[in-house]
Amino acid sequence: MTHLVQTNDLYRFHEQDGQKTAILRGVDLVVSEREFVCVMGPSGSGKSTLLHLISGLDQPSAGKVWLAGANLEELSQSERTLRRRRSVGYVFQFFNLLPSLSVMENVGLPLSIAGGHPERERARILALLDRLGLKERAHALPHQLSGGEMQRTSIARALVGGQPLILADEPTGNLSQKAGLEVMQLLRRAVDEDKRSVLLVTHNPRDACFADRVLFLVDGAIVKEPVLKGPGLKVEDVHAALAQLEI
Ligand SMILES: Nc1ncnc2c1ncn2[C@@H]1O[C@H](COP(=O)(O)OP(=O)(O)O)[C@@H](O)[C@H]1O
Ligand SMILES: [Mg+2]
Repeated sequence: MTHLVQTNDLYRFHEQDGQKTAILRGVDLVVSEREFVCVMGPSGSGKSTLLHLISGLDQPSAGKVWLAGANLEELSQSERTLRRRRSVGYVFQFFNLLPSLSVMENVGLPLSIAGGHPERERARILALLDRLGLKERAHALPHQLSGGEMQRTSIARALVGGQPLILADEPTGNLSQKAGLEVMQLLRRAVDEDKRSVLLVTHNPRDACFADRVLFLVDGAIVKEPVLKGPGLKVEDVHAALAQLEI
């Protein structure tokens, strides 16, 4: 299997009031093609920081990140940006949709940024929206949508460009249980049907059950054990692992 993401002994320090704190201390992580990996950790454990390092939005204090075969530290800033656009679709807790653009326009945005012409790909975008249950909402603005519809729009935006990796940062954090479940099912389908990889970070045990592999971030590092293997994980197993780790 090919590794889409590999991190090697990743460190990230932050300075606060002249004090240096290590947020991540030696993170080793691999995500293979067509794999759904979940990293669980409590709030403030460095999950978002880890995704920023993997996508090249931020740089590690030490250690290496390979994204789609490239060692990010060997790339210039503009090469890193290009690599991110080509390799990563991002799904955020707070959706990050542009408020003045319709659903369709938001979904077409990555194509415009990549130099394409979303208006020539209307049929394909509409088919994608249809699949995500958004066809009727194609011309709505974000403020007219429910939370679930906003997150499904951002999943469409992450899928439209064909990037192999979806990074999902607490994607159900602002959703009802029902809308959250729909979002997780769509992320699972992105792996099973669209052959993408998903790296999900969350503190929600229900969400973790959709993954092929669940890893735990403790004191800034990913612990060797336990590692939960899906599919078909039970929420009780995730709770038991969290209790064992006292997180
Ligand atoms: N730019 C920054 N400067 C200082 N501290 C930061 C910065 N970004 C994050 N942190 C701190 O790093 C820790 C981990 O943050 P984060 O990655 O957002 O955690 P999580 O996503 O797991 O909630 C938190 O304690 C946060 O306050
Ligand atoms: Mg976070």
